[in-house]
Amino acid sequence: MDLLRTKSVEASIAETVEPEHQLKRTLTALDLTVFGVGVVIGAGIFTLTGKVAAQYAGPGVVFSFLIAAFCCALAALCYAEFASTVPVAGSAYTFSYATLGELVAWIIGWDLLLECLLGASVVAQGWSTYFVTFLDQIGLGWPTSLGPDGSFNLAAFMMVAALGALVCYGIKESMRVNLVLVAVKLFIVLFVIATGISLIDTSNYSPFIPDAAGPAAGVGSGWLHTPLVQSLFGIQPHVYGVLGIVSAASVVFFAYIGFDVVATTAEEARRPQRDLPIGILGSLAICTVLYIAVALVITGMVRYDHIDSEAALARAFIAHGKDGYATLISAGAVAGLTTVVMTLMIGAVRVVFAMSRDGLLPEGLAKVSGRTGTPLRTSAGIAVLVAVIASLTPIGKLEEMVNIGTLAAFSLVSLAVPVLRRRRPDLERGFRVPLSPVLPVVAALVCIYLMLNLSGETWLRFAIWMLIGGVIYGTFGYRNSRVGRQAEPVSVG
Ligand code: ALA
Repeated sequence: MDLLRTKSVEASIAETVEPEHQLKRTLTALDLTVFGVGVVIGAGIFTLTGKVAAQYAGPGVVFSFLIAAFCCALAALCYAEFASTVPVAGSAYTFSYATLGELVAWIIGWDLLLECLLGASVVAQGWSTYFVTFLDQIGLGWPTSLGPDGSFNLAAFMMVAALGALVCYGIKESMRVNLVLVAVKLFIVLFVIATGISLIDTSNYSPFIPDAAGPAAGVGSGWLHTPLVQSLFGIQPHVYGVLGIVSAASVVFFAYIGFDVVATTAEEARRPQRDLPIGILGSLAICTVLYIAVALVITGMVRYDHIDSEAALARAFIAHGKDGYATLISAGAVAGLTTVVMTLMIGAVRVVFAMSRDGLLPEGLAKVSGRTGTPLRTSAGIAVLVAVIASLTPIGKLEEMVNIGTLAAFSLVSLAVPVLRRRRPDLERGFRVPLSPVLPVVAALVCIYLMLNLSGETWLRFAIWMLIGGVIYGTFGYRNSRVGRQAEPVSVG
């Protein structure tokens, strides 16, 4: 079995101009940055910040955001180099196919699918919580049985269905809607910061890093519920303190997820070499600054052990008697989370598109509709999947599962940068990671360390997901791979 067969960069680029597989090149640097901010700011800041501050880190969550941002920045540099060298849909998947071989490419593609598919579903559920809260706040009701706590989450289903239709219709149109919603979301985040600053009570910052303590009652103990690194090294399970901040970093990492999805649209960028690095690094920088500010405001407004874990931002304002502000924030969250779901769905479609064009998934999934210029069949299929997962499954805390898949992809992509430099020094690189190979290796190590800070349960679920992927690759992908089927010998580096 040749699991290391690679697909040359030239072959990847050549395929993008085959008429039946050609996507429209319409996106500018601004579109890409907006797209990035649109997918990045979401459930992470609107819900996770409060939960993580309350349960793991106290005001020290600010450091958690910084650690996660550091990890993402390192990975973002690697993504930017790849995206500017191999401007083809599919992001990390395509990059690794050109460098580390088909098996690793499959693993990354499968991880990215987990990130986008499950991420969209998790955020759609979060959206429905804010939607129902918002309706309550303005005096309208929503049947409990058809909301987030019911057996069929109609709210999430309808929202995903509407977005699915939009995504099928065309990427430029989706971007337009995105632009408006991102503007609303940015306004709300800035509003929280601007109005919240005057409500900060600095005594809430002390202690800034609460002393380490045992896990809260009801959180569950045992290796399943403990960060793997604590179980592996026999550390007494605990939250807060320095280790609590690092565990929190591996959870708030979710808040940054999405900037890498910008790279999945590489084939639709007008000038990918220049615009992709701007889109990736720009959206990450904007989000980091906003997150640190929001985390400081929330932990300053409410003492960490009194922060509401579900709707921290809105509740912090209610606690200060500002109910009207809370309603506005809920409305902003509804708009904000919409764009995250849409962008993650677009990302999932592009990953499936790239993998099926290579024959690793059924090739029919890579067909672009002549009328809309989008992979219609795949777009509809992903929308149905996300709608079903979001409306019918109690996904609960699966955001950690999204994190582990993404971190795994980040670490592989980082390692692939020096590999491609060595194998193909001749390729034109619009952007180069400084200090390679040191920086890419550090990036991979930081990602792996954050993965180890996720719970044993998350690792177990991840292993099952990878096992399913392995079976699909072994029984379908390996045999049908376009690279494998080509008669002429294939470069293996
Ligand atoms: N970063 C995205 C969010 O926070 C996934 O919702």
